[in-house]
Amino acid sequence: FWFLLGRRRRRQGEPPLENGFLPYLGCALQFGANPLEFLREKKKKHGHIFTCQVAGKYIHFLTDPFSYHALIRQGKHLDWKKFHFATSAKAFGHGSIDPAEGNTTENFHQTFIRTLQGNALNALTEAMMENLQYVMLQSRTSKLQSNTWVTEGLYTFCCQVMFESGFLTLFGKEFNSNSEKNLSSKQETERAHILNALENFKEFDRIFPALVAGLPIHLFKSAHSAREKLGEALLHKNLQKRDNLSELVTLRMFLNDTLSTFDDMEKAKTHVAVLWASQANTIPATFWTLLYLLKSPEAMRAATKEVQSILESAGEKISLDGKHISLNRKQLDSMPVLDSVIKEAMRLSSASMTFRVAKEDFTLHLENDSYNIRRDDIVALYPQLLHFDPEIYADPLTFKYDRFLNENGEEKTDFYRNGRKLKHYYMPFGTGIAKCPGRLFAVHEIKQFLALIFSYFEIELADNHVQCPPLDQSRAGLGILQPTNDIDFRYRLKCL
Ligand code: HEM
Repeated sequence: FWFLLGRRRRRQGEPPLENGFLPYLGCALQFGANPLEFLREKKKKHGHIFTCQVAGKYIHFLTDPFSYHALIRQGKHLDWKKFHFATSAKAFGHGSIDPAEGNTTENFHQTFIRTLQGNALNALTEAMMENLQYVMLQSRTSKLQSNTWVTEGLYTFCCQVMFESGFLTLFGKEFNSNSEKNLSSKQETERAHILNALENFKEFDRIFPALVAGLPIHLFKSAHSAREKLGEALLHKNLQKRDNLSELVTLRMFLNDTLSTFDDMEKAKTHVAVLWASQANTIPATFWTLLYLLKSPEAMRAATKEVQSILESAGEKISLDGKHISLNRKQLDSMPVLDSVIKEAMRLSSASMTFRVAKEDFTLHLENDSYNIRRDDIVALYPQLLHFDPEIYADPLTFKYDRFLNENGEEKTDFYRNGRKLKHYYMPFGTGIAKCPGRLFAVHEIKQFLALIFSYFEIELADNHVQCPPLDQSRAGLGILQPTNDIDFRYRLKCL
């Protein structure tokens, strides 16, 4: 009977199984509607490990944080690449980037680590600081000419500023425009191109969850065309006309040209993938961080004080005469209050999911028990369960800016469950081998953004009592969730 329905029966030694009510879709709709609630309910029913059939796949959820390291320890049975590679090819439209399939011999993960961390991070961070100031102070000057308040959506603002600065940092400029004070027509054209890319990015990003779920992009005409336009902009022949390309993009272009058989558009689409990875989480993370600061005067005071003291000790003077502030990596890395604020904002808004695919039938050994896993099944972690666990984070839905600070005002690393210290308590960047390679840069970007906002602007919410908008659950599993609606705020240049 189960076989005829195309469903699996639980075998001895396997985790409890939820086939769901619907043929094929299984638990997909219940999971999709509210993943956190769904997993909490199943955990209550079945215990710390259970299997859900979701759209024809069998996913074993590990919900006990003390079992998370089992995924890392037993990595030899689990593949982290297959799922990522297939998802990337499906969503962005390039050919397979799995060297086993013969289109390229590039090790993408190595490329990312090499160009987003170590020495390469210094140059990226420096470029981002310049670009943020250019975007905040020059590129948007028409809005800021008089000393009056500008009212805007906070998400819209974070999106524009981070996208424009991040785009310039990775993909360089059409020409060197930073030294000019007034917007020349060339600068305006460049800005229009980037804002156009932002519109295409948003159009494409809207349907990203559907693509990951396996729907073909042809079902979404305007998003499809937006993705093609992003690809056009990032064709090698167009990138070659730009100055100051990042090491990441330069190296990726070289490896596309030397190690792959991709055609021009496929090469461009690998750059669209990098653009998406660099922006899709950073934008909402920046928004939530600034929103929580605006809603918490105590947090705002502590954060601005920290930034002021770092700027003072760095001998940086804030002025509007075109001289930019710079903060090096060491200075950015010694901001424990901002670290804690950013972590807390991401704890509250992250819904990433870690997937590994079983390479063969094997026995997964957890702390106190073992389970049989079949080949091609997925083992998954959903860290929001951990981030919202009241035993680990008291009052888990409340923003507490100093949650990640210890009594000496340094980074707090001891979090407990059942009286036991946790190794994994904060996972917005994933864990193990596939951990986000851009995480250090991402945190720098947000700190730089905040430091500049505090330095140059007065800023406040349009309505101080406004509720925090809900998280858009349709993107659960994909990283930092966006708000379902924007929140108005006001800003104006400080009189310096
Ligand atoms: C992968 C989170 C910013 C580049 C990932 C993954 C997560 C993540 C959860 C998947 C890890 C896994 O599957 O276990 C975030 C968050 C960010 C952020 C929360 C910001 C707050 C960035 C930035 C960049 C970047 C700024 C680049 C400039 C990448 C790349 C991958 C990745 C290239 C794929 C890695 C691979 O497959 O080898 N990120 N990320 N990320 N991220 Fe980030």
